[in-house]
Amino acid sequence: MTMAGLDGAESIAEYYRRFARLEAEGRSPTYETLALAVAEDRDVLEFLSGLPGDKQQPNLLFAAARHIAGEVPNIDILRAVSTSHADELATVMLERRTQTNEPGRCATLLPAMAMFSGPLAIIEVGASAGLCLNMTRYSYDYGTQRVESEIPGAPTMRCSVLGGEPKLSMPDVVSAAGIDLNPLDPANPSDRAWLECLVWPDQPERAERLSAALDTAVRFPVPVHAGDLLVKLPDVLDQVPSGVTPVIFHSAVLGYLAADARKTFVRLMHDLDVMWVSNEAAGVVVDADPPTYETAPFVLAVNGEPVAFTHPHGAWIDWTG
Ligand SMILES: C[S@@+](CC[C@H](N)C(=O)[O-])C[C@H]1O[C@@H](n2cnc3c(N)ncnc32)[C@H](O)[C@@H]1O
Repeated sequence: MTMAGLDGAESIAEYYRRFARLEAEGRSPTYETLALAVAEDRDVLEFLSGLPGDKQQPNLLFAAARHIAGEVPNIDILRAVSTSHADELATVMLERRTQTNEPGRCATLLPAMAMFSGPLAIIEVGASAGLCLNMTRYSYDYGTQRVESEIPGAPTMRCSVLGGEPKLSMPDVVSAAGIDLNPLDPANPSDRAWLECLVWPDQPERAERLSAALDTAVRFPVPVHAGDLLVKLPDVLDQVPSGVTPVIFHSAVLGYLAADARKTFVRLMHDLDVMWVSNEAAGVVVDADPPTYETAPFVLAVNGEPVAFTHPHGAWIDWTG
């Protein structure tokens, strides 16, 4: 780890300004203001310059400071944590990752899953705490139509259908398992607190959804195996009962892979006798030219063929078929 000089601090400042402009603006005024303040704050920039490049992200800094301070930081809190508790803050940032688990995405995954008949074994690669693996334990409100879980009191995921006619029904899931480099445990208070810190302020509906999904996961634990998705997948596939169709899925994961690993994974999906659902930013798996939406969408694809554009947190689906 090297201490960057003034130039390093300047480029981190620009990184935080870019985050404020391109990611936080219109989504979280709190983080937009905070990121702009960091860009002008010598103490916080000095702290960040002592971390490896891949650990200087705004999301990671803000979540770690929140984890330590017990509240969403403003610039005064952030400066206090990064000076008086610098070692503790660095430890959290080095040990933790941005592993946001968004159960709202299940509402946009469900219509793809509903395309497959028969009993399904769903396998999520990059599952984080496994909250999307509990998709049949949530109910869904698509505005004009609901899909009900059999679980009494199941949390409801809300999603608008912007276009097309997706099949809105509960898939017949008989087994579920995940893989993650670093599985988080919904029953572990520290992991739970970390997941809560990753949800941006100004988005209370996401915090409520996460809390309800974590409670569901404690009631209905789903195994998430530790390891790299390319390495672990054969073992997990071996455990699929016979007569059951394996469906491998992922959302907001393949962007973390190096280009070569991503290509290997896509080739594997075509070579294996499995169904494959991907929900990733445009260009990550499927080259697509989405129409203009308020938020840059994900592309939902089945066996490599695009079927919909989706809101990255599951707020809407635009089914193209
Ligand atoms: C942004 S989270 C998304 C979690 C979940 N798919 C969702 O949509 O809520 C990405 C997850 O992918 C995991 N991940 C990244 N690269 C991985 C790899 N090579 N093998 C297994 N998991 C990986 C990370 O640890 C993280 O938990």
